[in-house]
Parts: sequence; structure tokens; C-alpha cells
Amino acid sequence: MGKDVIIACDFSTKAETLDFLDSFGGKKPFVKIGMELFYAEGAPIVREIKSRGHKIFLDLKLHDIPNTVKKSMKVLSGFDVDMCNLHAGGTIEMMKAALEGLTRSDGTRPLLIAVTQLTSTSEERMKSDLLIDKPIKEVVMHYAKCAKHSGLDGVVCSPLEATEVHSVCGKEFLTVTPGVRFAGDSKGDQARVTTPEKAKELGSDYIVVGRSITAAADPVAAYEKAINDFVG
Ligand code: C5P
Repeated sequence: MGKDVIIACDFSTKAETLDFLDSFGGKKPFVKIGMELFYAEGAPIVREIKSRGHKIFLDLKLHDIPNTVKKSMKVLSGFDVDMCNLHAGGTIEMMKAALEGLTRSDGTRPLLIAVTQLTSTSEERMKSDLLIDKPIKEVVMHYAKCAKHSGLDGVVCSPLEATEVHSVCGKEFLTVTPGVRFAGDSKGDQARVTTPEKAKELGSDYIVVGRSITAAADPVAAYEKAINDFVG
């Protein structure tokens, strides 16, 4: 898969989500289904969106004991999504188990990427709440290396970390980056944001864009602008 824009469909109902996707007509953007929509609508919404021809990133961020994650990933691989994820903080053993669970009997599987430290976690909080006494950048790069060592395909990270992740883990290791806004858009609750052009320059492989598209006056035009600016 090449560079692409993934739309974060952070809606809480099937009706809202499908109305939104219908507005794209024949275009089939890559969509991210997160916990909110998945917990509200379950597997049927994943199957429905897939059957309409979209690629899907199922963003459920698994983090549990290796055996539970392995068995859960086996269930997710049956949904035929294109990408799913977990927390690298679950350890290498958990990541390896996840990969095993996700791999189908014919050897195929969705891409599996790891969350390193959430972009909402500050270095200060990481130190005080998690007792991790290292610079956050070092922690993110270490988690990325652990994900690579476990056989995963990439990480979710800030676009501002994409260049360094590639230099530490190689060009082929995917960087999937939220925190993207058009120049002039509101940041919302995101602290460090970049534009699609800047994310491209920094080497992001996929940008995840939510409100800059979903809350735009014309979401289809906003999506096309993101594609133009990021993919070219
Ligand atoms: O609306 P916005 O563009 O900020 O949406 C970003 C999406 O990416 C949301 O679905 C959010 O949950 C997700 N995300 C994030 N930062 C992470 C991981 C996921 O913003 N570190």
C-alpha cells in the first residue's frame, strides 16, 4: 500500500457514518473505525463499510495478556480489515502473540501497527504517572524498535517523529500519523499538529485526519485537498 489519507470516522452511530460516506459518491476513502463507533455498532458496521469497498484501519489499540490479545486478533483478522493496532507497552511477547493470532491459515494478514506513547501523554505525565524516567522521544523510538523486532509493520506516531522512526527502523517501517490540520483550522484537543504538506515532507506514510475533514463545511473537498497536499 502506498501513501494515503485515512479519514477518522469518529461518529457514534451507523446512520451518521454511512450518511457521511454516502456523500463521497463513488469515491472510497480509506477509513478509520475507532472504539466509539465499534463499541456502538460492533462487527456489522465493519463488514458494511468493507462491503462498500473501503479500506479499513480498525483502531482498537489492544493491550492485554498475550494469550487474550492473540485470540482477539484472530477474531479481528476474520473481519478482513486492512490495518489494526495494539499498544507497544504490552511488551514484545504480546506483540508477537498478536501477530500470530492475526495471521490467517493462508499466511495473509492485515497490517499491524503499534501505538508507542499516546500523543496525549506528556513527558511530565510519563515520568510522574508511569515512572518512566527517560526523554519521551527516546521512549517512542525504543517502543518503535521493539515493534519492529516483534515483526510488526509500523507505528502510530506524531508526524514530527516520522523522520526519526524511519531512520531508526528503516524506510519500509510504516508511520501512521494523526495530529494533522489544514493551516488555519482549529487544533481542538491536539497539542502538536502539522499540515498534510508538512507530514509529506517529514515522510509520513499515512495521515489520519478526523475533524479537519469530518467537521469541514464540505468534507469531500477537504478530503480531496488532503489527498492533493499529501499524496500529490
Ligand atoms: O479529529 P482529529 O484529526 O484530531 O482525529 C485524530 C484521530 O486520530 C482520532 O480518531 C484520534 O483518536 C486518533 N489518534 C490520535 N493520536 C494518537 C492515536 C490516535 O489523535 N496518538
